[in-house]
Parts: sequence; structure tokens; C-alpha cells
Amino acid sequence: MAQIALHVDRQEDPRPRSTVIAQSPEACADDVLVGGSNSAFALPVKVYLERGSGSRVWDDSGREYIDFLLASGPLILGHAHPRVCEAVARQLSKGSAFHALNRPALELATRLVEIPGCVEMVRFASTGTEATLHAVRLARAYTGRDKVLIFAGSYHGSHDLSIIGHRGAARATSGGVPSSAIDDAVVAKFNDIGSVEESFAIHGASLAAVLVEPQQRSLDPLPEFLPRLAQLCRSAGVILIFDEVLTGFRLAFGGAQEYYGVEPDLVCYGKILGGGLPLSAVGGRREIMRLADPALASAPNFVHISGTLSGNPVSAVAGLATLAELEEPGVYEHLHRLGKRLRTGLAQQLSAHGIAGSVVGSGPIAAVEFSDPGQPGSGLALREAVNRTLILRGVLAQLETRFYVSLLHTEAEIDFAVDAFGAAVRATMEYRHLAGPTRDHAPAL
Ligand SMILES: Cc1ncc(COP(=O)(O)O)c(C=O)c1O
Repeated sequence: MAQIALHVDRQEDPRPRSTVIAQSPEACADDVLVGGSNSAFALPVKVYLERGSGSRVWDDSGREYIDFLLASGPLILGHAHPRVCEAVARQLSKGSAFHALNRPALELATRLVEIPGCVEMVRFASTGTEATLHAVRLARAYTGRDKVLIFAGSYHGSHDLSIIGHRGAARATSGGVPSSAIDDAVVAKFNDIGSVEESFAIHGASLAAVLVEPQQRSLDPLPEFLPRLAQLCRSAGVILIFDEVLTGFRLAFGGAQEYYGVEPDLVCYGKILGGGLPLSAVGGRREIMRLADPALASAPNFVHISGTLSGNPVSAVAGLATLAELEEPGVYEHLHRLGKRLRTGLAQQLSAHGIAGSVVGSGPIAAVEFSDPGQPGSGLALREAVNRTLILRGVLAQLETRFYVSLLHTEAEIDFAVDAFGAAVRATMEYRHLAGPTRDHAPAL
């Protein structure tokens, strides 16, 4: 009610907006933040987080949560890791941004080049969106072709190409995407090499790149899928881009390149790379990366890749501190063990409650996919209801995407989350039984 009243009284309310917001942030969020959110992916419950430590976060009313959002993935060491905090504080006192060359960014670029795989040179940016955008531009400039093959259901950020194919559609899932961008996208099916071969047969000569999440969302590639993709790209002169924004330093220190043993031409990093601060990178073969060299600015295929805060030293020291922790012996074995425990537990809960669905992911990632063939669209409603209950039980996760596991989660916390998930599923099913069919679809805008 308060929310409605505030909307109605907006014109007449003489108080400054900041006063109203300070007194009732929940009521005002929808007024000043579009959709009451910072992103296109909103939690089903409004939670204002105030602080985090390790695997836990606290909201502004002091409520504690076990955090499986981890800031949408970057915080693989958990919140406020002492080594990261110390490195950031030290760098901040020396200056927060230079734009010019700085030692931490150089050191981080060197670390990326040292990882076995395709990276010979690097250019930094601030977000994963920029990294995939720049990689595609490099591929287009290098090949002199325009079309890019992407996969239905993939996600590569917020730029035009990324929005095509997202959420499983072979079309733009956002307004404002020009038809020319759609014309340049070729959409194939992940893990279906036949669909890729078909696309290559039709568009091969005009394809600049294949942009792929090597583990698409949380779905592992079939054993032959990535090697065959690399082979097809090589024989058609198409640039293979691995979007490792999510998988980089998560599946293994060397990301999906190491984990699946396939080498692309270009790779995009983000999330963990900046240790919780904004940082991303595109890297790859020298002959492609060199197109972004400012010394070639007058060449016809020079590639413009720039950003005010690119190669930011504060983000770079956070990234370096994070990578140093991840290189300690046994880290990835531990992360994989925790992830497996979570996936096994969640799958047991689904089957114990007779819920149609599956748990996917590998390494420190678990994603629940509800499917209820008896009720079209009910997977969405079920997911939202379970997610809401889970949060109210003190487990912060975004079931639309996944559970991220950090190095600091304990087995007891994983088990707590599994039990909370089971209880949330049970409560949702009981309510559904009493209330009848739930709504099928999210409301149309
Ligand atoms: C695979 C992948 N690529 C790109 C992005 C976009 O990164 P950002 O949100 O930093 O722009 C994301 C974000 O979740 C991602 O998961």
C-alpha cells in the first residue's frame, strides 16, 4: 500500500526525494530504480545488502544470508577477502585510476599470457559485455566478414549480438536491437554439431566468428562438440571465440581451455579476473590482437578498443590477489568437491519431491532447471516461488541463473542450502496444491 501511495502522491509530496527514500527504501525502489533493480535479472525478493564477509552477507535490517550469488560470480574467494582488501587499500592510497600504463595491469596481462592456451596478447576493458563486443570486432576486422554464429540460449552480455539467442530464442530478446544486427547473427544449437555444420554450409564464407560459452550457461559441452567446432572454424577461416567471462579461473585456473582441452583463437575474461572490481579482458593470437595496436590507427582494419577505466590498477591488484589465492595447491579440487556436493544434494531434493527437472553444472557451479511438462510455463512460476522461499530462509541464490560456490563455503553451509531448497520446494508444492495452477508467464510489459 505504501508503495502505491508514494506513486500517487509523488507530485504533491513536498519532501525531497532523498528524504522519502531514506525513510522507506522498499517503497521507493520502483520509483527511482527501473524495475526496482540494478539489472535485467532481479531477485524475486527485494534485499538491500549492506555488507559481506566470506560466504555470508547481511542486509540493511541485519538479516544474515549464505550467499550463493557472489556478486553474480566474481567473488570466488568470498566477500572482503583479507588479501584482496589489503591489496586494494594499498593501491587506492597510491591512486585509483591512471588510464596510462601501470605495473599491476602489466603484471596481470603477463599472468594471462602465461596460462597455456591461445592468449599471446591482451587488451583490458571493464565488463564482460565489452570483452565479447571487442572480440567480435577483432574477428570481423581480421576476416573482413560480418556474420557471427552464436548459440540459442547463450549469454554474452548486453550488446546487440548477445541479446540475440539469449533465453533460447533465435531472435532479439530486447527492444532496440536493429534488424541489421539480427541479419548478421546466425543462431545454431549448442551441443548439436549438425546444426553448426548446416549453418557453416549456408553461411561459412561470410562468417567472421563463432562466439561460444564453452560451458553454455551451466550446460557442459558433449565431448566432441568443442573439438569439432574448432575444426570447422579452422577449415573455414572462422575465428573461434571462447567467452570465458563465467568459466575463466572457475572450472580450472586455465578456465574452459584447460578444463575441456580445446584452444580457441580469442578468449574473453571478466568476473573473477577483477576479484570483485570492474575488469575484463580480451586476449588471443598475436596476429589478431595486433589489429588494436594504436600504431596501426590509420590502417583500414585497425580495431578501436578503448575505455576510460580499462586496465584500472585497483581492479588489477584485486585480480592479482585473487589469482594468487586460486593458485594455492588443492584449491580447484576443493571447489569441485563442494560443487558436486551441492549438485548431488539439489538433485536428491528434486527426486524426493517428484519434481520434473534437472541439476546441471560442473566445478563450483550448480543450476536447477525446472520443467513441468504437465503445465506449460509452470517451470518459470515454480522457479520463482522456490527462489523466493529460499531467500526468505536465508539462502541467497538466483535460480534463474545458478548457485555460485566460493572457496569459503563450508560443507555445512552447502547442506543447509540443500535442506532449505528441499523445504522451499515442499512449501511451494503444498501451496500450489491448495491454490490451484499458478500463473504461466511473467507479465507482459
Ligand atoms: C558468459 C558471459 N559472458 C558475458 C557476460 C557479461 O558480463 P558483464 O555482465 O560483466 O557485462 C556474462 C555475465 O554474466 C556472462 O556470463
